[in-house]
Amino acid sequence: MTDRPRIYVTRRHLEATEVRLAAGYDAAINEDDHIMSADELVAAADGMDALLICVTEPMDSALIERLPESVKAILTLSVGLDHIDTDAAKARGIAVLNTPDAVTAPTTEIGMLLLLGAARRAAEGAAMIRAGEWTSWSPRQMIGKEITGSALGIFGMGRIGSTVADRARAFDMTIRYHNRSRISFDDEKSASYYTSIEALLPVSPFFMICAPATAETRGFLNAERIALLPDEAVVVNIARGELVDDEALVAALRSGKIAAAGLDVFNGEPNDIHPAYLELPNVFMTPHIGSGAERSRAAMGDMLLDGLDLLLAGEPVANRVV
Ligand code: DGY
Repeated sequence: MTDRPRIYVTRRHLEATEVRLAAGYDAAINEDDHIMSADELVAAADGMDALLICVTEPMDSALIERLPESVKAILTLSVGLDHIDTDAAKARGIAVLNTPDAVTAPTTEIGMLLLLGAARRAAEGAAMIRAGEWTSWSPRQMIGKEITGSALGIFGMGRIGSTVADRARAFDMTIRYHNRSRISFDDEKSASYYTSIEALLPVSPFFMICAPATAETRGFLNAERIALLPDEAVVVNIARGELVDDEALVAALRSGKIAAAGLDVFNGEPNDIHPAYLELPNVFMTPHIGSGAERSRAAMGDMLLDGLDLLLAGEPVANRVV
């Protein structure tokens, strides 16, 4: 027996995180990194103080109710909380910690990559070269849309949305946004606030989704709202696939109503994403790697373990959600 915190780790992590886990905690790791069933998780949680989970482990109320009494905290390697029933955790007195801030910069990078990649047809260009189909330079070849000096509509102006706005300003983009509530005058930095998503969409030739998946936002980008976008708009999603109605987006990408989409997140990811995304040349995709950069991923692990240490010491924890 030791008095080191006992923690069950559902996935393999970066070496820096695993080294810290081995040095400072009684950590048991799901060594082969398979996706665990609810039953496996409940059994593995036996006697543990904390669970270190990822977006791959949905923690609904039924599962949370089955967790052993020993579990005091769920640490999720994500800023997103849509896979956790935080009310159920709160009802059981289980703290939930996440990783705000640590994911902001890398997710913003992927947002800009997708915006540029979709607008400038990066996936099509790379595929053309790889297929040996680039036979000459031509004034008409691969004409994309330049983001410089255009307007970017941002849905969700939290940490990530605001940082996207900062990066987009370097491209002289005009920033327009909709958020549950208006952000402060200083934080707006001259961005224009639109009180409804319906007002924002028609003035967003480039549109980026940065809002969390909630009961209010799920499926918000449907056929009616897509129709409100300017013709040939470019849409980027770095939030969650659930915010998009795939059938509607696919139809708009096929018709040209939407010129291109940049997607890092998908309904049904990773094994059951809409098959049309695999075929459509005007979709530039990455596999949910918003936070997948070395420094930030390690910082996410540290943020959670620092938080656990504070929690177990009875101290306040800045990244505690409930
Ligand atoms: C997040 O931080 O929510 C990312 O989507 C992955 O963990």
